[in-house]
Amino acid sequence: MKKGELLYRGKAKSVYRTDVPQELVVEFRDDITAFDGGKKANLAEKGMLNARVSAFFFTLLEKAKIRTHYLGMIDPATMRVRTLTMIPLEVIVRNVAAGSLVKRYPFREGQPLDPPILVIDYKDDARHDPMINDEIILALGLVTAAELQEIKQKALSVNRVLGDHLQGKGITLVDFKLEFGKDGLGNVTVGDEISMDSMRLWDARSGQSMDKDVYRFDKGDVMEAYRRVAERITGNAGGRSR
Ligand code: CDP
Repeated sequence: MKKGELLYRGKAKSVYRTDVPQELVVEFRDDITAFDGGKKANLAEKGMLNARVSAFFFTLLEKAKIRTHYLGMIDPATMRVRTLTMIPLEVIVRNVAAGSLVKRYPFREGQPLDPPILVIDYKDDARHDPMINDEIILALGLVTAAELQEIKQKALSVNRVLGDHLQGKGITLVDFKLEFGKDGLGNVTVGDEISMDSMRLWDARSGQSMDKDVYRFDKGDVMEAYRRVAERITGNAGGRSR
């Protein structure tokens, strides 16, 4: 399998074609951005850590019979994935109130949300990813009603699998974002990444952030937090610096 032309360059990942049409290659770069790209940095080894955690979670989901795009690793920061037609929705599951939920609505930061709250944003940087609802999704023809139900059910299943694993490691899964796509057969499949950049993770005891909020709000040494949480999640202390 050979890495081909660059298909897409996002804020933190690059996607390449391969010589196999059903397979792509995703490179997790060391770039980190926040606030709609308003804050940017390059942090050595960040890509590798996010790739490792994403691969770990995708494997955990596959074991739970939840289909993902993950096929394997090529090197520590480069993943082989199934080619998907991406659905432009950001599906967010929230177990604890934080971030935009607290900003926009009268929730108290840290308030438990049981049952979890599912929020869907329309993925469009130029429009600043506005929150969307079922009627707008269907009117835009982004997915069918049945696919939308499937996406919601899968997001909640993913929440249970990730939440259980993280709880066992003393980590609270506050919220996270998923993106879905459809493979050649039309199967709704989890794509993108599941990493410290796309989740809020709090140490269950101290409540300390161990995710991109450390970068967003200058809460401390970002890479130290990413390294520690990746090790707790995957049980793998490995890295280029060791
Ligand atoms: O990050 P912010 O507070 O602006 O948005 P949110 O809606 O509170 O984010 C909920 C969760 O989804 C957080 O874990 C974010 O890191 C993640 N998210 C993301 O990965 N990408 C986005 N474009 C929006 C949210």
